[in-house]
Formats: sequence, structure tokens, C-alpha cells
Amino acid sequence: MKKIIVTCRLPGNALDRLSKKHKVHIHASRNEVMNDDELMHRIGNADAIITLLSNKIDERLLEAGKKLKIVSNYAVGYNNIDVNACTKRNIWVGHTPGVLTDTTADFGFALLLACARRVVEADRYVRENKFDGWYPDLLMGTDIHSKTIGVVGMGRIGQAMAKRANGFDMNVIYYDKEGDLGLQNAKYVDFEELLAKSDYVSLHVPLLDSTKHLINKEALARMKQSAILINTARGEVIDEAALVEALNNEVISGAGLDVYEAEPQVHPNLLALNNVVLAPHIASSSRETREEMANIAVENVIKVLNGEEPLHAVNKVKVEE
Ligand code: GLV
Ligand code: GLV
Repeated sequence: MKKIIVTCRLPGNALDRLSKKHKVHIHASRNEVMNDDELMHRIGNADAIITLLSNKIDERLLEAGKKLKIVSNYAVGYNNIDVNACTKRNIWVGHTPGVLTDTTADFGFALLLACARRVVEADRYVRENKFDGWYPDLLMGTDIHSKTIGVVGMGRIGQAMAKRANGFDMNVIYYDKEGDLGLQNAKYVDFEELLAKSDYVSLHVPLLDSTKHLINKEALARMKQSAILINTARGEVIDEAALVEALNNEVISGAGLDVYEAEPQVHPNLLALNNVVLAPHIASSSRETREEMANIAVENVIKVLNGEEPLHAVNKVKVEE
């Protein structure tokens, strides 16, 4: 019987599969994640852990996890994990790509629509009993069809975003560090051209040293004054203080944000702005997808405990014969 730690209760029944065969410790409270101290306290006995983005998996923790064979992250991103430190110790790092691609792009597009057509402001307006008649210029937004969207990072989610944009008759341009991917429905441009030409800039890059603050003061200054910035990737890709300044000074016209630099904290000045739509990191949060992510996170663990490779690994580890 193996020992598995799950740092937060997951949606659906996936964890039942683990508890049938193994000793599973699931952090009991809902909407709360096991804290670093408790994880450190328990890690010594664990063969596997299922983690969230808010669990920091670093050298110190891994050093204490003498029996650990897999860190199975309940997310596609894994910037919370020191992957090299895991590989060094022959510990797999699993993640949950694929299932959340369309769900995340749906939400990216929801933010785009909400910003362009002022959906959240409009809702507030009606609730505040301000709707007293039809006026030609009431809550005028900006068009989506026939406008240009610049997708930054043309991986799985970026491509799903482009597909949605095609359906809305948008012109799609993209920048990717791999260069021109030869796509039929989107045109490769360099980063500066993308910033200059896009009516909407949507971020879909992972957080790396090279993408931290990719959208900084200079990048914002290159964007159109009418541009709207969408971020469903990672908060640190944007210099949040520079964004607040740009929104205040009308350097760009709006932003739809699902992620923040110091999550769960949100820059206080963002809260005061009307031209931003703010969400609490929920882009992959449909019931279907969150349950499927749990299935994959569990499957990654089961495979490794059976001496196989995880279904989706981000590193490569020697499998013991
Ligand atoms: C969410 O941000 C994820 O990486 O799955
Ligand atoms: C709007 O309701 C219109 O009929 O133009």
C-alpha cells in the first residue's frame, strides 16, 4: 500500500480510484490548500503527491521527500515546481494538458467579448437601476468581427484561441518563439509588429525567465491606444504595475485578466478601474474539465506507482526495471 498526499480536495470521483488501493491523505477543507509546513511535515512518507499551482515544490521539500516518485500537478502549467530538482532525484513531474485547452480558450474569448462589449459594466448598470431608456451611445463598445487579434504563444491554447477568433471573422496574427508554424488560419509576425497591429492582444505563453514581464511599459507603449489586453496565461507575464499605469493613462483601452502577478493578491488600482474585467484564475474551470483534470492527475500517479511512465510528464526519468 502506497502513501499519497493530495493537497486539496478535487472535483469528481477520481480520488476514489486511489483510495481503493492506497493510503491517501486528502487535505480536508474545501477551498483551502495544504500549507507548506504541513506538506513538509507529511512529505517524508509519501510515494506520490498531487499538487496545485499554489504548492511550491522546491529543493527543500524534495530533499525531505525521500520516497517520492511523482509530483502530479493538477494544472497544465508547472511553474510552481522545480522540475530540474525533481529530475535529478528521479521524480516524475506530471501535468494535465489537452483537456483544458478548449475550456481555457473559451474563457479567454469570454474575457475578450466581455471587455469589447462592456458586459460586466452593463450588468452593473442594470443592477444599479440606471437603465432608464435606450440611447444611441449607451455603453458603446468596440467591434470584434473584422478586427485583428494578436496571439502571443501559439501552443495548444493559443491555437484554440485563434480558431475561435476565425469563427468571429477576426484577422489573426501571432508571435511564437518557435517562429512561423506554417498555420493556415493565422499569420506569423514578429512581436513588435504584433503589438503595433493588434486590436486585441491575447497571452498564451508559459511563464519562463524569457516571458516574465514580456508585457512591460515599453510593450504597452507599442500597442494601439484602442487595444485590449487579455491574459489567461500567467500573471508574471505582465508587469502589473506598468499595466495599471497604462490603463490609467489611456495608453491602451482595456484588459481582461484571469491571472495576476502576486496571486491571490490583485493590484488594488485594478479594482478601481472600469475598463478591466477581472476573474480569479478560473479559465479552465468548467465542471467537465476540472473533473477530467482530476482523472489525469490521478492516472499519472497510478501509472508511476505501477512502474510505468505517467500519461503526461513534463520531465524524463529512468524507470526502474
Ligand atoms: C492553470 O493555470 C493551469 O496551468 O492549469
Ligand atoms: C436595437 O435594438 C435595434 O433594433 O436597432
